[in-house]
Amino acid sequence: MAEHPGGPADATLRLLREPRIAPSILSADFTRLGEQVGEVIAAGARVIHVDVMDGRFVAPITFGALMVEALADQVHAAGAILDVHLMIERPERYVADVARAGADSITVHVEATPHLHYALQAIRESGCSAGAAICPATPTSSLDEVAHELLDLALCMSVNPGWGGQEFIPWSLQKLARLRSGLPDHVAVEVDGGVHEATARSCVEAGANLLVTGSAVFGTPDPAAAYAAIAAAAGIG
Ligand code: DX5
Ligand code: ZN
Repeated sequence: MAEHPGGPADATLRLLREPRIAPSILSADFTRLGEQVGEVIAAGARVIHVDVMDGRFVAPITFGALMVEALADQVHAAGAILDVHLMIERPERYVADVARAGADSITVHVEATPHLHYALQAIRESGCSAGAAICPATPTSSLDEVAHELLDLALCMSVNPGWGGQEFIPWSLQKLARLRSGLPDHVAVEVDGGVHEATARSCVEAGANLLVTGSAVFGTPDPAAAYAAIAAAAGIG
């Protein structure tokens, strides 16, 4: 939103800390993107997840700041936020662009930069909330040195990043529990990958409050109904 230079907006932090399903547009029908995002917002979604991939950190190439810009007005008018997951090398180079385009929350991968502290500082300075993501093989301790002062959100990948529709890695539940218990209470915990009706509840029980769902929502004929079913399965209002 970039309305709050020097730190994330309170409304953004509030939404990120609540129990929520965050539909990922990665699996949406791009010829009807606005319509599909409107459907999940009408069903109650207030956090829309945007997966940016560069063909280097992960093999696929998706989209970037232009996609954030295309969605920003619609999402913000509904009181929802854009949760941008950067799966790109040296993400600090793109923080300002993505924030200017209308992101509310920006998450970078710890594996993608030697300058995590700098990247998180840049995100906060851009007016967005700052997230750090860890791949399945990355230890939760990689967030220890930034958790207290710079982190608003910790994202635990429960599949290898790069593709929607993969199977949930069961070990992620133990990892989520360790992540949650090692972080200050104000840091949101997001789980991403393989979350659907059968896996959602255990993610919440393990300590995640934000559940990203791509194919389980947008890969179905009725995204709003799928959203509601997953929210109910997770015990999320
Ligand atoms: C994968 C992305 C995810 C993806 C999840 O690298 O970060 O956000 O959309 O897709 P599903 O929910 O289908 O596993
Ligand atoms: Zn993602």
